[in-house]
Amino acid sequence: VSAAPGEVWIVGAGPGDPELLTLKAARTLEHAEVVLFDRLVGTGVLELIPQNAERVDVGKHPGDQLEVQGQIMTLLETHARRGKRVVRLKGGDPFVFGRGAEEWAHLAQRGIRVHVVPGISSSLAVPALAGIPLTFRGVARAFCVVTGQREITSDALEDWRVYAGVDTLVVLMGVGERERIARKLIEAGRDPSEPIAFIERGSTPFERCITGTLEQAARLEVSAPAVWVCGRVVALRDQLRLE
Ligand SMILES: C[S@@+](CC[C@H](N)C(=O)[O-])C[C@H]1O[C@@H](n2cnc3c(N)ncnc32)[C@H](O)[C@@H]1O
Repeated sequence: VSAAPGEVWIVGAGPGDPELLTLKAARTLEHAEVVLFDRLVGTGVLELIPQNAERVDVGKHPGDQLEVQGQIMTLLETHARRGKRVVRLKGGDPFVFGRGAEEWAHLAQRGIRVHVVPGISSSLAVPALAGIPLTFRGVARAFCVVTGQREITSDALEDWRVYAGVDTLVVLMGVGERERIARKLIEAGRDPSEPIAFIERGSTPFERCITGTLEQAARLEVSAPAVWVCGRVVALRDQLRLE
């Protein structure tokens, strides 16, 4: 990792467990002078931030996201212009519902050099840790990762029929809207008795996997953050897990 000043590293922190940080992410953190981090970055990862680095918690609060996002972009720019080595640390992979590319574009347009360190996305790692393979020969040959958040700008992007035929469907940020999403998926043709799983706080000591069927989604007791997996692969968990 070069340590040229006045640049920004957009770094994926993985799903929570610091052991799931890449070597490159860990080395980049070692050289950081300022670290801006999100709510879902694991506490073990935050412990790797050097003592003398400035830590800025920019964990977003629901409701004022546009405003907060603007402030984050300005902060990144300001610290970079002060000649600092700035790390923008994001949960999972920065480019999977992480706004990493928006921040990159903002900085690039202002002449600030950006480097990217991809991270292990919760969409892949969290099901794996729970014993749910996203693909499996003869069961699922494709998977899709979709956000459960309502599209603010266009209803057209909210067409769940697109996802009715996907073998394995992974929904991020879907806990709060699970009743509506499950209903839309069933209306669009997904089997109401298909197995589903919500994996809460994957890769942390608080990991919990809640299983059921698609038609039961609303009744399952789940709290965010969780990765929601729909599809026949969920049933393979029984063969893969010992406990
Ligand atoms: C804004 S998205 C960011 C996703 C992230 N960039 C990634 O690649 O994992 C946040 C959502 O990711 C999922 N998520 C992230 N970390 C998780 C974890 N450790 N356990 C369960 N779900 C997680 C949840 O669905 C959460 O609502």
